[in-house]
Amino acid sequence: MNDFLSLAKQRRTTVEFDTKPVGMNLIKSILEAGRWAPSIFNLQPWHFIVVQDKESVELLTKLCAYNRVFGQPAAMIAIVSDLTFAELKSFYGEAKLPADEHMKCMGMAALNIVYAAESLGLKTAIMSPRKGVAEKMLGVPEGQKCEVIVGIGYESETEPKNEIGRLPLNDIVSYGKYKRKRAKLTGHPVKQNVD
Ligand SMILES: Cc1cc2nc3c(=O)[nH]c(=O)nc-3n(C[C@H](O)[C@H](O)[C@H](O)COP(=O)(O)O)c2cc1C
Repeated sequence: MNDFLSLAKQRRTTVEFDTKPVGMNLIKSILEAGRWAPSIFNLQPWHFIVVQDKESVELLTKLCAYNRVFGQPAAMIAIVSDLTFAELKSFYGEAKLPADEHMKCMGMAALNIVYAAESLGLKTAIMSPRKGVAEKMLGVPEGQKCEVIVGIGYESETEPKNEIGRLPLNDIVSYGKYKRKRAKLTGHPVKQNVD
């Protein structure tokens, strides 16, 4: 298996982090990977907020909508999307950039951050903050949104075995033209296809 594929398969959401702090040198390397993420027109419409104090990490974890994370990560990087960049016209005439292009960029930055952390021996949890609340807490100005938060830390010894798998390629790929192979969306394929 190539190195990237091993990393991709090894990366799993961590729910029980150790309390061991993450060194600033590692955080900086991870931020550097976020900085180098691709973005539409190279607008880089993001701002990264590093959160390390225990109370804020705990509160932010609680503010995430679907959270399974119960052992707090030592650090978090909140990824803020600056929607005011959508008004930038110089790059592309009078057309406005649709907000969903920003969301794609946030995903790119988040994934770079996640894999950089994994490559440095750290574990991550991607979290979706409830609309509006994380912005207030983090002092995010009007017109900017905290779309995603990446929790980062070392895995605790009590981390449960992650049995969330993936659908087989056969179910999700067609060649040339779209051909649906899955009967219906199966939602959360917990404990299926662990390979
Ligand atoms: C955009 C996005 C948002 C997510 N938000 C949350 C969240 O709020 N809380 C949580 O516990 N997991 C969250 N997750 C993690 C997913 O539940 C997880 O990646 C998925 O179940 C697959 O498990 P795995 O990461 O261990 O492979 C999110 C993942 C993504 C990509």
